[in-house]
Amino acid sequence: MDTHLSADERANLLLKSLTLDEKIQLLHGTGDPHDGPADPLARDANGGSGYVPGLPEKGIPGLQIVDSASGVCYSAGSGRYSTALPSNIAAASSWDTDLAERYGAMVGHELRDLGYNMTLGGGVNLTREPRDGRTFEYEGEDPLLAGTMVGHLIRGVQSTHVIGHIKHFAVNDQESGRHAVSSEISERAMRETDLLAFQIGIGVGQPGAVMCAYNRVNGDYACENDFLLKTVLKDEWKFPGFVISDWLATHSTAKASHAGLDQEQPGNVFFGSALKLAVEHGEVRQAEVDDHARRVLRSMFAAGVVDDPPIKQVPDVFAHARLAREVAQKSIVLLRNENALLPLDAARAQRILVVGQNANKGMISGGGSAQVDPPGGNAIAPLPAGNHKQDWQKAVWFPDAPLASIQQAAPAAQVSFDDGTDAARAARAAAGADVVLVYAYQYAAEGIDLATLALPDEQDALIASVAKANPHTVVLLETGGPVLMPWIDQVGGVLETWFSGTAGADAIADVLFGKVNPSAKLPITFPVHDADLPHPKLVLPPPASQEDWSDEAKMSRKLLSGLPSFTTSYDEGLQVGYGWYDQQGKSVLFPFGFGLSYTSFTYSSLSITGKDTLRATFTLNNVGTRSGDEIAQVYVGLPKATGEPPKRLVGWAKIHLEVGKQAQVTVDLPKTRFMIWDTAQHRWAIAAGQYAIEVGPDSRRPALQANVSLSAE
Ligand code: GLC
Repeated sequence: MDTHLSADERANLLLKSLTLDEKIQLLHGTGDPHDGPADPLARDANGGSGYVPGLPEKGIPGLQIVDSASGVCYSAGSGRYSTALPSNIAAASSWDTDLAERYGAMVGHELRDLGYNMTLGGGVNLTREPRDGRTFEYEGEDPLLAGTMVGHLIRGVQSTHVIGHIKHFAVNDQESGRHAVSSEISERAMRETDLLAFQIGIGVGQPGAVMCAYNRVNGDYACENDFLLKTVLKDEWKFPGFVISDWLATHSTAKASHAGLDQEQPGNVFFGSALKLAVEHGEVRQAEVDDHARRVLRSMFAAGVVDDPPIKQVPDVFAHARLAREVAQKSIVLLRNENALLPLDAARAQRILVVGQNANKGMISGGGSAQVDPPGGNAIAPLPAGNHKQDWQKAVWFPDAPLASIQQAAPAAQVSFDDGTDAARAARAAAGADVVLVYAYQYAAEGIDLATLALPDEQDALIASVAKANPHTVVLLETGGPVLMPWIDQVGGVLETWFSGTAGADAIADVLFGKVNPSAKLPITFPVHDADLPHPKLVLPPPASQEDWSDEAKMSRKLLSGLPSFTTSYDEGLQVGYGWYDQQGKSVLFPFGFGLSYTSFTYSSLSITGKDTLRATFTLNNVGTRSGDEIAQVYVGLPKATGEPPKRLVGWAKIHLEVGKQAQVTVDLPKTRFMIWDTAQHRWAIAAGQYAIEVGPDSRRPALQANVSLSAE
């Protein structure tokens, strides 16, 4: 308990005083309720996603663990309140690391307020497959942006003395058959993409825990995968914390323990008495159990949960609602604005029509374990209870209604509403309006992939007919990720608002009426067609591997014993996201890094200096009519001989400029960002040759170019 000692020293001292039983108690949860009555030790659980009893006589608190990707989950269960921030991909659209830290800190404060000391947020699986139902929970398609943003989120959470976390390690890039699928991928591709996002996130965030994923990677389950957990995570990256399994993702005792799994969740099927037996039979060495326990203890000391345990209190509802609105304002991406239709001014927009099935009731959010219980309840009656699938993955609509926000933002205007269920009727109403706001939605949830990126429920037809009746139509997209827009040329404006959280409707109105100048940029490519994706057809699980949650206890047992495998081959390799569209020479609807503003910026005079860390210096000018923020991006094209896709993001800067002002911008480009993985030599390398540096507003409009030649390293 000596706070002058390091987390490692304190963990080692404490470990010496623990019995084998006490060590093993730290290595599993208190059982999944589906496996029968909850463990008597679970009596002190806090109502979250998982619980590990402490050893109070030794000063070790319990681990009160809960999902909190974009806000603390399950708060309604105990009549409590938690703030729903915009989804993680929305936060990624801000490219704003300070905002990411404040996002994480808010989640950390509310975790503590509600009695928790460990989060299960921090999802950073790269979007290789944008139909992945959890795209909303992740940070987009680029490893540098995704890893940096999730790393700062983790820093924010841990700044409040809560154990931070990152997931799902690794290559958990589709939801269909996620418990059975084996992600087949080359080592070089994995290291330069999916694993790189984790490597950067762990480096920036120093999370106390890494969650291993459900899926297999090249044949071996992620939670017993020696290459992932031992070779890469613990030996090469020197990760000091503990590997926690995804829920029911543990499938063995000795194999998982040897591979580097430290803690089984939510139950104790493999790491409870089975682990003790394995030690007694000499299958698992005492030293291995000690290492597992030491990692858990070390993370508890490092995060501060021993010295500064949470004290329950009412969350700061108002400050956190203001942050939710600010994050939404900074994550809304302006994709189209014909003839400066936006921002709306009250004089021109006298008659406003709001269209959308539930635009008079609320805004949709992402389903599954990241679902925050909506303050004020679900605005739309949830699907009939009972069926597990429908219940925990149900569509939840936050009761902040777009219609009310528009009425509040334009009190002098005549605002009418049409629920959009009859396209012809909506079109007739549109003809009589000065501007039409169509709130389109896409349901997405964990455990389910989207069949298509097209909007559901005939919304494309609705938008097309409304736009035909009135070209001053603005589409607001409440979606988990990219969507197809067959009507793009017929509408006047498009805003990607993502799942925008409990204050989303007001934030959208702030942007529509110009209180806020949009500055966000896409962390993910919007393709033109599903057929343009690396895998036009999603690989679906064979019947034997399908999930049937109608009998939860039976399904849980099936998962623990393992489902027959099938494979998804990521043979596009290094070509993730924009890498694919660039390499394949495909046009896209909106490129990675794209986003418009109500002002305009010019770039000039690029120079590259420095040796070990290159530095790009250029001038940015606000030549428009109002102040704004620009996310200036730096890409590099590696030498052809490396076989890399045409370009990769190597840095960015977000700059605020008043009208008519200019600034000299410098972006540091550490050489690590120019590396490739040399599989034969099993190490990172810099290839000799010419490197083409590009600076500009997005990945497809280089404004400035410069070449540097690097020698081999
Ligand atoms: C879920 C998810 C994981 C979540 C965990 C606990 O199945 O895969 O992201 O943290 O189980 O709810």
